Amino acid sequence: QDLSEKISISLKDNSNAKLIEYVKAFGPYVNFFLNKEKFYGLIINNSISKKQKKTPSKKHGTVVIDYSSPNIAKPIAFHHIRSAVIGNIIGNIFEHNDYEVIRINYLGDWGTQFGKLITAFENYGDDKKLEREGIKHLLDVYVQYHREENDELNSTAKKWFQLMEAGDKKALSYWKKFRDISIKEFDRVYKRLGVSFTNIEGESFYNGKTESVIKDIDKKIGTKESEGAVIVDLSAFDMPPVLLKKTDGTTLYATRDIAAAIDRWNRFAFVESLYVVGNQQELHFKQVFKTLELMKLDWFSRCKHVQFGLLHFEDAKMSTREGRMIFLEDVLDKSVELAKKAIDEKNPDLKNKDEIAEAIGVGAIIFGDICKKRIQDITFKWEDILNFDGETAPYVQYTHARACSILSKAGFAYEKDMTISKEYLPSDLEFELVKLLSSFEDKLIEAQREYEPFVLARYVLDLCQVFNRYYYQEKIIDIKDEKQKEAKLALVYSVKENIKECLSIMDIKAPERM
Ligand code: ARG
Repeated sequence: QDLSEKISISLKDNSNAKLIEYVKAFGPYVNFFLNKEKFYGLIINNSISKKQKKTPSKKHGTVVIDYSSPNIAKPIAFHHIRSAVIGNIIGNIFEHNDYEVIRINYLGDWGTQFGKLITAFENYGDDKKLEREGIKHLLDVYVQYHREENDELNSTAKKWFQLMEAGDKKALSYWKKFRDISIKEFDRVYKRLGVSFTNIEGESFYNGKTESVIKDIDKKIGTKESEGAVIVDLSAFDMPPVLLKKTDGTTLYATRDIAAAIDRWNRFAFVESLYVVGNQQELHFKQVFKTLELMKLDWFSRCKHVQFGLLHFEDAKMSTREGRMIFLEDVLDKSVELAKKAIDEKNPDLKNKDEIAEAIGVGAIIFGDICKKRIQDITFKWEDILNFDGETAPYVQYTHARACSILSKAGFAYEKDMTISKEYLPSDLEFELVKLLSSFEDKLIEAQREYEPFVLARYVLDLCQVFNRYYYQEKIIDIKDEKQKEAKLALVYSVKENIKECLSIMDIKAPERM
């Protein structure tokens, strides 16, 4: 009660914009009434003009986000979309909220499997095929290796990886070739998804930098030897040990992640360091963070594992191709093809059909990945994600295009600081829209706090749903009173700008016609 009294007094004093008409403490509650007249104008104008001039600052510090981070020498599989899209959007949200974002693609480009790959390539590989087929050829030789795996192959593979860690020229030139090819192919997919990075530094970045970290761990926590391997015992915390070094002296995934975490702190002094990785790796990150904590690195609590659930796919044709994984690129292609078909049926005369089909097809896949809380599993169905009336990207894009067409039909041009009076926007739906617009920045803060792109997806769906009701129920263009028409169009314009902004944070395109 005391607090609510204080809050209401300070609200009274600070409401110099007269946005709040009346405040009253009521027991432990604060009741306040908005001056709708002021509120409408402020929200509509603000939500337009802010978008036009917002250049985000970096005033809240640096956030490091590790996302996508696929293993090289294998094509990007469909399920890889989760980390790439979720991480990328979380990065965009932080940027919008005035953080500097370091976007790291921590490629899985080091480890014993590359000894196997070199062995496989020496036995079954073909340079010409590699040039033609790229990663797919690497996958083929790797699969063949596993089919024929035996002690001899494995010991050759082990040697190759030891050579890599020792800096051998020939081993490294193989490795570099495989890595370059992989990065080139990955880039093609990232580009289509609008996913970008500031730093491409994979596990190999920490080759040669782990020894000093292992020494440091030994000094601070003490390591143990177990059957010739070097480990950190975490049994006191009910966790299996962290393996730092194998019997043959080579290092492991966890070793490199610990080295990377420390290195990122030294370089970026982050306020948060996020790892956007599936929930199967929960234990791995618990162990890594626990090790940092035991090393008394007090920033360990700034490191977070941002988990997500599994991705299933319902496409009989695509998922039954035995032994083969579903490639992300194939899914994108098919989605674009389906979008193109829909355009051909519904709007065959549309200009730039291919470009718009790409925007819809790829948008549908991105949105399909964030249309639930990230921790939930997702089942992809074509009917769901491409449904123009469902909770999908095409629905949002279509609503945006509809708003664009209203504005262009009416020949509306927004002028700065228009007077937009509540008197001209009397309906409940209009109030709903203004309220939604006013909550946009809060939603982005919530999305950031929870590392949850779904919050933004849900917000834009709500906005579109109310807007579509408005569009069907009320006249917007055919209005005699010019002032009222202008106010309504200004509202439509700010809704349109807001939808576009949401899509842009998701790196989904917003075509003006569909
Ligand atoms: N390359 C790993 C994988 O494909 C994911 C890496 C995630 N990031 C990390 N810092 N461990 O499973």
